[in-house]
Amino acid sequence: MMHAETTLDTLDWDALERLRDGFLSGTGAAGVYWQSRADLANYDLTFAQRIAWKWDAVLAELKLRGWAPPPGEVIDWGCGSGVAGRCVLREFGTENVTALRLFDRSALAMEFAEARAKAVFPKLAVTSGEPEAGRAGLLVLSHVLNELPEAECESLLQLARRADAVLWVEPGTHTDSRALVAMRERLRDDFDLVAPCTHQATCGLLTAGNERHWCHNFAAPPAGIMADGNWVRFAQRMGIDLRSLPYSFLALERKGLRAAEEQFSGWSRVVGAPRVYKGFAKMFSCGPGGVRDLTLQKRDAPELFKRLRNEEPLLLLKCAVAGERAETVGATLP
Ligand SMILES: C[S@@+](CC[C@H](N)C(=O)[O-])C[C@H]1O[C@@H](n2cnc3c(N)ncnc32)[C@H](O)[C@@H]1O
Repeated sequence: MMHAETTLDTLDWDALERLRDGFLSGTGAAGVYWQSRADLANYDLTFAQRIAWKWDAVLAELKLRGWAPPPGEVIDWGCGSGVAGRCVLREFGTENVTALRLFDRSALAMEFAEARAKAVFPKLAVTSGEPEAGRAGLLVLSHVLNELPEAECESLLQLARRADAVLWVEPGTHTDSRALVAMRERLRDDFDLVAPCTHQATCGLLTAGNERHWCHNFAAPPAGIMADGNWVRFAQRMGIDLRSLPYSFLALERKGLRAAEEQFSGWSRVVGAPRVYKGFAKMFSCGPGGVRDLTLQKRDAPELFKRLRNEEPLLLLKCAVAGERAETVGATLP
């Protein structure tokens, strides 16, 4: 039977509400929730699109840091509609990719993601199913952690240990970010930490006294989203703030795989959003010395201050620090 193609004008609100309720209540861990291809089509146009905007921010940062994936297979594990794998391939190209493998506990999801990927990358080998034994290529993980009971989390870690590189994006909540930090700590013996960290030591958030903090940033939705009737309706029906896209992420590369460039050692990574006040800004920053709040005086870096006031994201900061004050400032904005 032919189905009319789902569009932003013809969304199935009942399906989206059911999916949203499952995501919010954490019942995803209880079992497969994709009931039809239409579920995936509705998700792909909406929730997955918001996830794509987070991936765009992550991939832009990786490019800023001069990182590109090693050659080989790309595995999108827990692929859902397959948005994460498609974002990675769109951003980094397919020249060095031997195949895209899509895996999910839902056969419907694998079928959907495979069909979408084949439509977008007609020349690429696209397969689905369990990753093969042995060395895995680039492992792409997106919004999976809070659906995994402990045993499944352990087997995912086993798979990650076989990967050449791992790109992992999760929601920017305290819980999800802390769960990702736990993964970081368990993988860092085998992997170089490419981003967001600028150092290879224990995560500074694990130091006593930092429990209330979490590693997250905010992606920017496309300009004009608030003027788009379809998106505004989606946000209202789903109870979502379209402008807020918090995410946490981790980029890892197997130690010794390629010569590692310490391009950003000595820099700090800004966590969360800078808080801008009259004449100064405060930033929670993470560096080799741990995490701490830094104060940037407008008079010390007027141009940078102006950009912060305009809500441009600031990711990396190189500065001399006196007490809590950032003095000579070099900054990288995406
Ligand atoms: C919230 S969705 C995210 C989908 C996609 N990665 C994205 O970012 O849009 C989580 C996905 O993980 C899958 N999943 C959950 N537990 C899994 C498991 N143990 N093995 C494989 N896939 C799993 C679900 O079926 C679902 O497709």
